[in-house]
Amino acid sequence: MKHVCSLLTLLVSASTLASEPTVEDFGKTKDGEAVQLYTLKNEKGLVAKIMTRGATLVELHAPDKDGKSADIILGWDDVAGYESEDNQYFGCTTGRVCNRIAKGKFTLDGEEYTLATNNDPNHLHGGAERSLDKVVWKATPFTNKFGQGIRFNYTSPDGEEGYPGKLKVSVSYVLANSANRLTINYKATTDKATPVNLTNHAYFNLGGAGSDTVLNHQLKLNADNYTPTDDTLIPTGKIESVEKTPLDFRKMRKIGARVEKLTETAALGYDHNFVLNSKKDNDSRYNLAAMLRDPESGRTLRISTTEPGIQFYSGNFLKGQNGKDGKTYAHRSALCLETQHFPDSVNHDSFPSTILKPGDEYMSSTSYTFGVTKEQDQKTEK
Ligand code: GAL
Repeated sequence: MKHVCSLLTLLVSASTLASEPTVEDFGKTKDGEAVQLYTLKNEKGLVAKIMTRGATLVELHAPDKDGKSADIILGWDDVAGYESEDNQYFGCTTGRVCNRIAKGKFTLDGEEYTLATNNDPNHLHGGAERSLDKVVWKATPFTNKFGQGIRFNYTSPDGEEGYPGKLKVSVSYVLANSANRLTINYKATTDKATPVNLTNHAYFNLGGAGSDTVLNHQLKLNADNYTPTDDTLIPTGKIESVEKTPLDFRKMRKIGARVEKLTETAALGYDHNFVLNSKKDNDSRYNLAAMLRDPESGRTLRISTTEPGIQFYSGNFLKGQNGKDGKTYAHRSALCLETQHFPDSVNHDSFPSTILKPGDEYMSSTSYTFGVTKEQDQKTEK
């Protein structure tokens, strides 16, 4: 009897497990390294495809208010697209330190480090040659009672891209089976003190990648404050209120309503780090960061994170690239919501620290929950 019961338990739990992720070849890098593309699916209609180069989200399909699915992130059909000049960090894992480091310099434990100034005069998104978006990661698919996932591992040697310490990084994408939620979990350890700040750089258009504009999308950010910057987008160190500025997204606002007020600034539109309000629910590691919706398709996206900040970037550098499926990516036709520690934290002692020490573990997690709204009256503030 006991054996029958445990067999039954085994069968029941096996039947509640999601099916295995699938894998296909995605081509080769210019150095001849093979790249694989993994597919995660759930029973609610969300499909995520992630490749081993840059642990990059290549496709993300979500249903609209009529149940029609579309790929809602920018990308390319092949590795060559991702290796081209046109790639502005589409969908990638970004690091070792995402966003900017002033003049590519920082001092740690009395030693000065110099990094690539690949966004003149600053360092951007981990460097020029071997940043985390450009290397091929090792993938391990898994399935558990919550859904399907892929864990990507990469060991960045001491000194790679100028950063100290051998950094062991893992990024797991987990697609929930019972909800339209994709969670990205980041972990890292080091053998020398080093700055770490990881994010995902997906460009979203909830109307479908290649749709004209995201200026009709509506956004709400859980942020009373932001970090003002100089003309090279490096924070001044101050933390200022969004009140009476075009950065006030405390209530749902149409993105296009005030973006032109920023076009003539150094940011060229929205390209700002918002300081997330501190957690209301102390039981949860996660904090609500952003709500995005597209009135046309009805698709919504809710982002929760363990990070203290979020960079909202309105695709100001998109320039009509030809992307996946023959689609064109026009100026401001997609946006990024990059959960992270604040830019240039390594040079600002007053910002939450990005320094990882030997013996400690870096941990970060962000969840993206997709839904639909059928509301006719989608109220926004003026
Ligand atoms: C964003 C950044 C922008 C731009 C973009 C890549 O994360 O905030 O300024 O560099 O990446 O084109």
